[in-house]
Amino acid sequence: MSNNDLQQVIRDFKAYLEQEQRKGLKAVPRTVNRPKIIAKFKAKAATVGLGKSAALDQLHQEYAGCQNCPLGRTRNKFVFGEGSADARLMFIGEGPGFDEDQTGRPFIGKAGQLLTKAIETTIDLQREEVYIGNIVKCHPMKNPDQPTLRGNDRPPAAEEMNACLPIITRQIEIIKPEIICLLGRTAAQAILRSNAGIHELRDKFHILNFSGHEVKCIATVHPASCLYDPANKKYVWEDFKKIRALLKKTSTQI
Ligand code: URA
Repeated sequence: MSNNDLQQVIRDFKAYLEQEQRKGLKAVPRTVNRPKIIAKFKAKAATVGLGKSAALDQLHQEYAGCQNCPLGRTRNKFVFGEGSADARLMFIGEGPGFDEDQTGRPFIGKAGQLLTKAIETTIDLQREEVYIGNIVKCHPMKNPDQPTLRGNDRPPAAEEMNACLPIITRQIEIIKPEIICLLGRTAAQAILRSNAGIHELRDKFHILNFSGHEVKCIATVHPASCLYDPANKKYVWEDFKKIRALLKKTSTQI
């Protein structure tokens, strides 16, 4: 292991302990859950030194059979996320809906098609050039006994988000995007650790640090809300224009 890799392992471990501390950990117990903590850290350390794509693949494999929350029992497909591992821009939504659960791909239903079009026309990037993920990776359903019913979606519960947050955090740490666009209130509140509404959070960049990597996060309204009320499109347009301008600015700052 090179010196750089070792430093990355130490940074990751420090960030991991800080994250656990925020969740209420006061000390690492001598016995209770130690093997679990060590296993978790080992899995994380194993991705250090790998290329971004291989690290994402490894993370995907690690969680593909995840049963860390009740959604694992009712999902059809685990929706890890997709796009460029080298993306400068990452999108984070709430969680898979019906179409995503059927296919295992994020944002491919009606809201996803609107998102794809907005990325291409307003930001001037192709969908394949960005990375698209969600806070939770399995479809939260109002009635899990009816997995083939459309419109059976609900926002993820706090316990489901808490169980899933380590995955999106690792995705961010691996990809190291310059900008993250948070789609809708659920994603914005979860990543920005805020209870504020979407209109208070959107329209500006929030600087966040992920294991020593600084990311500019901007929230906007969820594309699905534009399907219900097309007047919401103007917010997406305004926020995406800000993203486009920042991407342009940073690509000429060399
Ligand atoms: N809505 C989301 O938040 N994510 C998806 O992947 C699809 C719809």
